[in-house]
Amino acid sequence: MVLLDGKAAAEAMKKDIAGEVARWIGECGRKPHLAAIVVGQDPASLTYVRNKENDCRQVGMDSSVYRLSANISQEGLIECVRTLNEDPAVDGLIVQLPLPGHLNEQEIIETIDPSKDVDGFHPVNVGRMVLGLPSFVSATPAGISDLLDYYRIPTRGKECVIIGRSNIVGKPLANLLSRKGPGGDCTVTLCHSQTADLAKVCRRADILVAALGRPLFLKANMVKEGAVVIDVGITRIEDKSTKSGFRLAGDVDFEAVAPRCSYITPVPGGVGPMTRISLLKNTLQAALKRNQ
Ligand code: GUN
Repeated sequence: MVLLDGKAAAEAMKKDIAGEVARWIGECGRKPHLAAIVVGQDPASLTYVRNKENDCRQVGMDSSVYRLSANISQEGLIECVRTLNEDPAVDGLIVQLPLPGHLNEQEIIETIDPSKDVDGFHPVNVGRMVLGLPSFVSATPAGISDLLDYYRIPTRGKECVIIGRSNIVGKPLANLLSRKGPGGDCTVTLCHSQTADLAKVCRRADILVAALGRPLFLKANMVKEGAVVIDVGITRIEDKSTKSGFRLAGDVDFEAVAPRCSYITPVPGGVGPMTRISLLKNTLQAALKRNQ
């Protein structure tokens, strides 16, 4: 069993991105700039956004974070997005999700200028991705694809089973892995809460992706011997054996599943760091396009 070390892969990729950023700055005389909006005080969201700022700094990009009150109105948030859409100094713009319940997430996503939508959540980018046209691809699916490629794990003709049909992970990943060409050509099954005999479906997977957001869900009896297992989940669960009383758990019961796998991602340090790399790549891409 080989651990898919997303942290190491991401560090290697950051060096390449930093080189490209430096070249771009040489040509354009300014840094690529990622703007992030975070609404409220959700601790996970605040941590994710802080990590994204650090990533930008490490590769030589600018970032700015707009921390808005949890009580902001839909109109107030739309106004903030529109201002950043029109700001010529901003190349990429993200709104950290989830948003507080009173806000209409879809309307906010659709307000982001598709040419700055480095999360790849806008329907224009989702549609273009499905059609195989140049687009921003959302960060987690792109990161998973890059991680498979980094470890030279073949996808052509493989059976891939994805658990979880979210707009952010499951749906776009199913598209990426089934598209024609390198990194694609998988036969993809997209499973969800209504899938009949999930364990049986999962056991046919050469590449099995758990992205449903339920800690320790995937058990050994759901995994074929020699499968590649990708764990997208990350949840804080109680663990009295640790100093803090908590630990981070993925959607995969790692201890039970790992011995059956050819490759498996750890949590943390698997998919997460690769997701952050994809956001940097998309931001650089946005800057390159704006300068063309
Ligand atoms: N919340 C969880 N993942 C993501 C992501 O990739 N982008 C944004 N904007 N919010 C998220």
